[in-house]
Amino acid sequence: MENIRIRKMRHEDIPEVIKIEKDSFKYTYPPLLIMQILSSFPEGFLVAEDERSKKIVGYIMGIIEWGHGHIVSIATSREYRNRGIGSALLKELEDILFKKYNVGYIALEVRFNNREARRFYYKRGYRDKRLLPRYYEDGTDAILMVKKNPYIKVSNIPVVVSMW
Ligand SMILES: CC(C)(COP(=O)(O)OP(=O)(O)OC[C@H]1O[C@@H](n2cnc3c(N)ncnc32)[C@H](O)[C@@H]1OP(=O)(O)O)[C@@H](O)C(=O)NCCC(=O)NCCS
Repeated sequence: MENIRIRKMRHEDIPEVIKIEKDSFKYTYPPLLIMQILSSFPEGFLVAEDERSKKIVGYIMGIIEWGHGHIVSIATSREYRNRGIGSALLKELEDILFKKYNVGYIALEVRFNNREARRFYYKRGYRDKRLLPRYYEDGTDAILMVKKNPYIKVSNIPVVVSMW
């Protein structure tokens, strides 16, 4: 991960983040929603910046809802994938949510057929919790994946499924 810096997202990064999002996903979040997420919990919005070109090459958006963490979106620019950027973004967000905010767990939804992302999360401690049938607007199912806070030694943390 040479020359890549993980830092907090700024409002002026939004256009570059949206470009990466559009290139990575079939359906994207409305820019207004992204701005709302950024304003409501700025600490959970991180970007990876190439220090030489100052280009944004990856991002992660996380929020806290009902007392648990939720990963809204993560993506790395195609030409920068498989260099550890996604892992670094995820680790940084986990440190904020697990250590600073002490959330019981982090949840996320991922497309059932997004094998690459499911494996990515699985390798980083996320486990399939539940199938969410027809979760996406095109009728595709999602898998709800959950990682418990490794710093809290409680066995039964109830998992709330959010449907947005
Ligand atoms: C999922 C995603 C964010 C991963 O981002 P990434 O920056 O490629 O992630 P990493 O480089 O940290 O990890 C990817 C693989 O590269 C490998 N890798 C990490 N650092 C590496 C390095 N320095 N050299 C070579 N390979 C490396 C890792 O082994 C990893 O494979 P693994 O999951 O089998 O362990 C990216 O594939 C993506 O943007 N996908 C499209 C959007 C998406 O599906 N998002 C998730 C759904 S919400």
